[in-house]
Amino acid sequence: MYTGLLHTHRLVVILFVLLYLIKLILLLNNSLAYEKFAQKVKVPEMIISTLFLLTGIGMLTQISEITTFIWIKMALVFGSIPVAVVGFKRKNKVLAILSVVMILGSYGLAEVNKKQKSAKKELTSQTITDKADPNYNAVEHGKVVFLSYCQACHGADGKLGLSGAKDLTLTAKTDAEIMEVLQNGKNSMPSYKNTLSADEMEALAKFIQSLKK
Ligand code: HEC
Repeated sequence: MYTGLLHTHRLVVILFVLLYLIKLILLLNNSLAYEKFAQKVKVPEMIISTLFLLTGIGMLTQISEITTFIWIKMALVFGSIPVAVVGFKRKNKVLAILSVVMILGSYGLAEVNKKQKSAKKELTSQTITDKADPNYNAVEHGKVVFLSYCQACHGADGKLGLSGAKDLTLTAKTDAEIMEVLQNGKNSMPSYKNTLSADEMEALAKFIQSLKK
């Protein structure tokens, strides 16, 4: 059900973006063709926009948690609607460009997010990440999560210390305190509240403790 919706939503979004790109190009060229085209696509445009919203709302009802990422995406999409309406009706080029940039931006965000998710999947696919599995090893699990999220600042061995990051092999923090830092972030270290699950944070704490020995 969800994948079906997702595919339909993607297809509709691509049609929507194409339509607006064509309209924008015609508008920017001051072309007479703009009026003609806009008139011609009025009905298809209404259908595509409605499907865009309906499939989007359908997907929202299927996901368990609305992340910050989804909020940003929705804000961009909903924000772009009034901008597009005014921009294209009044032939205000700046607003028309802005609305297309907002839509493209939210589309780009979705693609980046998808890549990050599949990168994470690849790394974790060879590691047991289910705590209930008898062969589960928290340190191993923590290591794969660490390599995808933390090594940019802390280095693969925890010692790198980029942008003021602490050398993790010297940390005096307990598991609970490490999980706290992950929840809330600290100074230039971001919060992982919306990215990592509780199991992943616990595994990270175990992995960091293992670096000390
Ligand atoms: C953008 C860079 C950056 C990333 C990415 C990052 N950190 Fe940090 N981390 C920092 C900085 C900077 C500090 C020092 C914060 C402070 O105390 O001012 C820090 C501190 C910590 C501390 C506390 C160490 C101590 O002894 O005080 C822990 C634990 C930690 N990071 C774990 C992680 C884990 C696990 C990840 C991956 C999920 C991660 N960090 C990702 C920059 C980063």
